[in-house]
Amino acid sequence: MTVLAALYSDLHHLGLIQKGVEPAAQPLAGGVSSDIWKVELAAGPIVFKRALAKLKVAQDWQAPVERSRFEIRWLRTVAQILPDAVPNLIAADEERGIFAVAYLDPLKYLLWKQQLLNGYVQPATAAEVGRRLAIIHAATASNLAMSSLFPSDAIFHEIRLAPYLEAAALCHPDLSDALLQLVAITARTKRALVHGDVSPKNILIGSNGPVFLDAECAWYGDPAFDLAFCLNHLLLKCLVCPAEKGLLLDSFFALAGSYLHGVNWELPAELEARAAHLLPGLMLARVDGKSPVEYITESGAKHSVRRVARQFLAAPAAMLGLIVEEWRRELR
Ligand SMILES: Nc1ncnc2c1ncn2[C@@H]1O[C@H](COP(=O)(O)OP(=O)(O)O)[C@@H](O)[C@H]1O
Ligand SMILES: [Mg+2]
Repeated sequence: MTVLAALYSDLHHLGLIQKGVEPAAQPLAGGVSSDIWKVELAAGPIVFKRALAKLKVAQDWQAPVERSRFEIRWLRTVAQILPDAVPNLIAADEERGIFAVAYLDPLKYLLWKQQLLNGYVQPATAAEVGRRLAIIHAATASNLAMSSLFPSDAIFHEIRLAPYLEAAALCHPDLSDALLQLVAITARTKRALVHGDVSPKNILIGSNGPVFLDAECAWYGDPAFDLAFCLNHLLLKCLVCPAEKGLLLDSFFALAGSYLHGVNWELPAELEARAAHLLPGLMLARVDGKSPVEYITESGAKHSVRRVARQFLAAPAAMLGLIVEEWRRELR
């Protein structure tokens, strides 16, 4: 079957087109873990997504396709909590691992990553990302029924903890114990519904605020992971946008501050400490893990990440601000 025939077959299965109808469709750029299409239905454009078993990255990276089911469930859950923060789910089949959401027009929505790389850095945007993330975590915290909807511990380990923290441990044997302990603590901390890939490339900014995409790593676990994961991107972007360093670090504090303000299911200081322990691990993982960021290529930049990350893995800080201070010194 050609790729288009497979797409039409899935769209028909979802009840979105009649047999024999072949709407215009174009693959969307940017995705590495899915087949993702924009399809022009008579009722308007949609996005169709099907998870791939093998990711389109340089290193061999298999990922269980059942993760689609958790992305669908995450979309449904968050639509009940903050409908503005997700694209509207139009149709889904958890068994087949396929779904369709509303297409968000690029004239009205820009990827946050693109905004940041264009030098358009607004701390208020980061603050709203943090605020929304905390609302999602608060609404799902300490909820046994919710946790049973997301039995994705093994998948989360396979596509997050192993390729990031465990892969970094292999490159840094002297820090292996610290990194593997971080994996163990994260894996056993089961507190709220985690998105798992809160990266600026998975957030669209529209007039109604940030919209979260790509929840295929959804997991009922440690919400500190989402916070640290997103903050890590803001730190690393300083290397590619040095002129915006001040605003990026302001964005870091804006996001962390508004997020921690919304933490009502546990002591914010405890969550902050877990995020501050994870952050250097995730920093190191984006240089020496299985999914290095594409924009850190210079050895000097890699050295900076390694130096600061290694320092805080060896002697963890409980406060995020201490890591930022050191990062600021490193980049001076
Ligand atoms: N609903 C949507 N409307 C507009 N663009 C979208 C939508 N969903 C995804 N995209 C675009 O497609 C890209 C890939 O989608 P994503 O869900 O992140 O897939 P992947 O898992 O492959 O990264 C996004 O970064 C975004 O640019
Ligand atoms: Mg994505």
